[in-house]
Amino acid sequence: MLRRMAFLVLGSLSLAASSFGGSIPRPPSDDSFPRVDEGRELFSLNFARPTDARLDHGLEKQGNGLGPVFNAVSCVACHKQGGVGGSGDLEANVITLGVVTRPVPLANVPKAVAAARKIHPAFSEQSGIQVLHQFAVGTPEEVATFDAFRNHVLEPFGGASALEAIQPVRREFGDVTLELSQRNTTPLWGLGLIEKFRKEGGDAIRARIAREQAEKTPWITGRIPATGNGPGWYGWRAQLPTLDSFVRSACAIEMGLKVAGFDEPANPVAATAPATGRKPRKRQQQYDLTDEQCTALTSFIRSLPRPEAVEESDYRRAEAHRGSKLFKKVGCADCHVPDLGWVSGVYSDMLLHDMGDAFSDAQTAMPDRFISRSTTTIVTPYYNVTLVSPERVMETPTNPQQEWKTPPLWGVRDSYPYMHDGRAATLRDAVLMHGGEAERSAVMFKSATAEDQQAIITFLESLRAPAQEAALAKGP
Ligand code: HEC
Ligand code: HEC
Repeated sequence: MLRRMAFLVLGSLSLAASSFGGSIPRPPSDDSFPRVDEGRELFSLNFARPTDARLDHGLEKQGNGLGPVFNAVSCVACHKQGGVGGSGDLEANVITLGVVTRPVPLANVPKAVAAARKIHPAFSEQSGIQVLHQFAVGTPEEVATFDAFRNHVLEPFGGASALEAIQPVRREFGDVTLELSQRNTTPLWGLGLIEKFRKEGGDAIRARIAREQAEKTPWITGRIPATGNGPGWYGWRAQLPTLDSFVRSACAIEMGLKVAGFDEPANPVAATAPATGRKPRKRQQQYDLTDEQCTALTSFIRSLPRPEAVEESDYRRAEAHRGSKLFKKVGCADCHVPDLGWVSGVYSDMLLHDMGDAFSDAQTAMPDRFISRSTTTIVTPYYNVTLVSPERVMETPTNPQQEWKTPPLWGVRDSYPYMHDGRAATLRDAVLMHGGEAERSAVMFKSATAEDQQAIITFLESLRAPAQEAALAKGP
């Protein structure tokens, strides 16, 4: 489904509250996992208790540790289901606030920004998306001020119930419409294989899959994700190019740990918070983690085992096998490609697909045409859209606001809830919600017999987190 859309974008992307501070050192390219034990500890370390941590782990002494704003005290606080490194529940969802630019482009950008800044002071023309962090560190007054600010932002959207709704909620504020939306925590199992595949020519294979889709299933138009730094692989919208860059941005955005390449977000309402639109501070600002520690974290994630495909009983094994055939028959495997080159059983093409209106989100997947004109190179786990006046709005061949990367289905049983924001409570709901390019296959699923539908679900349920990790997480 190729759509021509008038689409407001695009200018440069920049970090929500961060800026790109310099070149990121290349991670080692061999199969070894340098400092993997240290990485495992850092992944589970509670950064709210930095005093001991600094002594034990030699964390950068000059940094300010967790915060000033953050979403959780450790990586494992979110990545935990089915074991250390797994997915997150709804409570671990990340909340973002974005300026709505579609279907109606902003008439007057300065006015829209002024209106948006009354709600969140960090909005600017370069920065149309903000992460609404959960917590702040600081004096008791600063923490109280931040909490009050957060509640004040949420209130017009319906407060806590806006978050329970999960799907994006829009509200008008004078000259601007803002959208509150969420991201569910992805599992990290098997990412070492994906990263190796990426480095060893994965892009050529993705391009071949996209061509085959265009020839054999013309209603499916997989697009190679773009970022300012090369093809995208990681995140729900494949918005970041490498595992190492995602790890670093997660340190900064989720936990407020400044690392080389990614600044930590400022507390938008701290008395000391600099005015928005400020120049990024100089590089010698102190890091919270060293490059070696970032490498250790990436190593640990690369070392995580791949998910398994298992069933307990002979009956369920046979049903799962039957379901896997039906999965192909109804067209699921056109996008959820079982084997990505030599990465077997991943069930993803790692391409972007338009999933229909219900999947629209103010944070766009990065359109191709924008990239060639781009002068900046930064992306975050949560996109930032530059707000442009109507005459600069570009046409894009696809609708990037509805595009999502086909998520690998390996381990899917243990990554409840489902879809990018966790809107699907069951696997069946997730399948039934498929629209856009996937509508045809969802319709075929619905018209299958109850037994056949159940076989497909049983197949999905056989795709599990690595058993060993789950056992470790539960303890003896
Ligand atoms: C507040 C919850 C939260 C915390 C804390 C958190 N993450 Fe995540 N993580 C997420 C979410 C949500 C996503 C999906 C983001 C997206 O795609 O928009 C994600 C995605 C990722 C991905 C990309 C996975 C993929 O398949 O594309 C990596 C890698 C990652 N996180 C690593 C980390 C590391 C390392 C830490 C600790 C420094 C961390 N995360 C802390 C919520 C969290
Ligand atoms: C056009 C490509 C396409 C087709 C065809 C397709 N899917 Fe998907 N699927 C996706 C995308 C993209 C997402 C992610 C949507 C999101 O993040 O909101 C997804 C998400 C899912 C999820 C949730 C995964 C998670 O981690 O949350 C499941 C389960 C799933 N698909 C199963 C199926 C089944 C079963 C079929 C066949 C009936 C199917 N899909 C057909 C593209 C496709």
